[in-house]
Amino acid sequence: MKDHDVLMQSFQAAGQGQVFRFWTDLSAEQRTSLIEQAREIDLAEVARLNDSLVLGRQAAGVDVSGLEPAPCVALPEHGGDTALWAEAKLAGEKALRQGKVALFTVAGGQGTRLGYDGPKGTFPVTPVTRKPLFQVFAEKILAAQRRYGCELMWFIMTSHANHAQTLAFFDKHRHFGLRPEQVHFFRQGRMPAVDFSGKILLEGRDQIALSPDGHGGSLRALVRSGAIERMERAGVEVISYFQVDNPLIRIIDPAFIGFHVRRGSEMSSRMVPKAFDKEKVGHFCIQRGKLVVIEYSDMPDELATLRHAAGELVYNAGSIAIHLLSTAFVRRVGEGGANVVLPFHRADKKIPTIDDAGAPVKPAKPNGVKFEMFVFDALPFARNPVVVETRRSEEFSPVKNAEGVDSPKTCSDDQMKLFARWMHAAGLAVPVDDTGVPTIRIEISPLFAVDEDSFAESWAALKVKPALADGLAL
Ligand code: UD1
Repeated sequence: MKDHDVLMQSFQAAGQGQVFRFWTDLSAEQRTSLIEQAREIDLAEVARLNDSLVLGRQAAGVDVSGLEPAPCVALPEHGGDTALWAEAKLAGEKALRQGKVALFTVAGGQGTRLGYDGPKGTFPVTPVTRKPLFQVFAEKILAAQRRYGCELMWFIMTSHANHAQTLAFFDKHRHFGLRPEQVHFFRQGRMPAVDFSGKILLEGRDQIALSPDGHGGSLRALVRSGAIERMERAGVEVISYFQVDNPLIRIIDPAFIGFHVRRGSEMSSRMVPKAFDKEKVGHFCIQRGKLVVIEYSDMPDELATLRHAAGELVYNAGSIAIHLLSTAFVRRVGEGGANVVLPFHRADKKIPTIDDAGAPVKPAKPNGVKFEMFVFDALPFARNPVVVETRRSEEFSPVKNAEGVDSPKTCSDDQMKLFARWMHAAGLAVPVDDTGVPTIRIEISPLFAVDEDSFAESWAALKVKPALADGLAL
């Protein structure tokens, strides 16, 4: 029997034979493509997920029992120990100089909310020169390499949908000055969507409805793609994990790295105090002794809004999806041993499909379920996880929506506000409105400065200082 016959039979046996119901109509090429897609599917995994998440044999919803607020390392201005911060910075700088740190961007999302046609990393994000997100990160890497005298490996996880476009973009822009060999791309895994009775959906006669398996899928993709092995061979011990949507992020922060290393942490996280009670960020909590993140959508209102007698929020630690992971930990979780399996989450969606005649159906309401893993679900498996506070204004302004909060406009304003603060600290008079947004357009490349101190240094070193009158791009 041919290989594909065996595969088709296994689908029949699993009650998923409908995937091949147009087989006789397909060309040889279409058949090969359908077989390749089917091979990506782990039928046992789908059966398990159907059982637990779709057919309702497991209590619906995330367990929010027994929560307590998580302890965090506070910033010095919020009572954190200044000496500890200084020691952490030194330890982080040492790890960087020793080449123990690599960068990792998850860029496999579909960016639907932004309504931008293209990989999100190619979105023009800076206020004056409209640099794309990927370029901002590349320049931060170049700046860190200069400062720490090391070469940093950068791993970028794409999706099937945006992989080729992402690679072409880096080629076209000559990797923004990085060596092509230091930038590594790999695609994340996919999961099939099922209808509400657990049947795998077709998107076309020769197309299974497959979609990215969530950023939590990055851990197994790091292992399966060989990225972890590459890191191990290069002596990398710490992976700086970040989302593609946030240009403010300090992707190489020695103090954060130092806390991670000194605590022997396997997975560390950045937190900011929530901007308001029901901000759409995950909440760091302790649940039966383990660190967990409870998504905003799962956090009961009464906990999200609970306040101490003095007025401050009890569950105040917001996750901004910035983590440090140890390579050994990623290998352990990514390989998925018996005791370290990341759970899948169920998302009911409108999934374009076809009817029995093969005609396209665009559902008006959710018609099926997608399965996704979240990276923060690895936290309960990590030894000595540490949560470190950061300043929102210096690290978090994502581009998620076309308008309103977390939009290109708010992100551009936040970048300019930050640059204006550096300039004020260096004694420059930048005109700002009453919310701190400059009234002239300013932009500072990471190659010029990455913080207040480096700005002061670079500015002092400029022989000819540019005028500020109509704006400034350095
Ligand atoms: C996410 C977090 C939230 C956090 C917030 C901070 C989740 C479920 N929630 O929300 O806790 O407070 O960011 O900004 O993650 N991605 C992939 N592959 C996928 C799915 C996503 O690579 O299959 C990447 C995206 O490209 C993006 C990132 O993961 O870089 C975040 O995805 P997104 O769906 O935008 O998360 P949010 O709901 O905004």
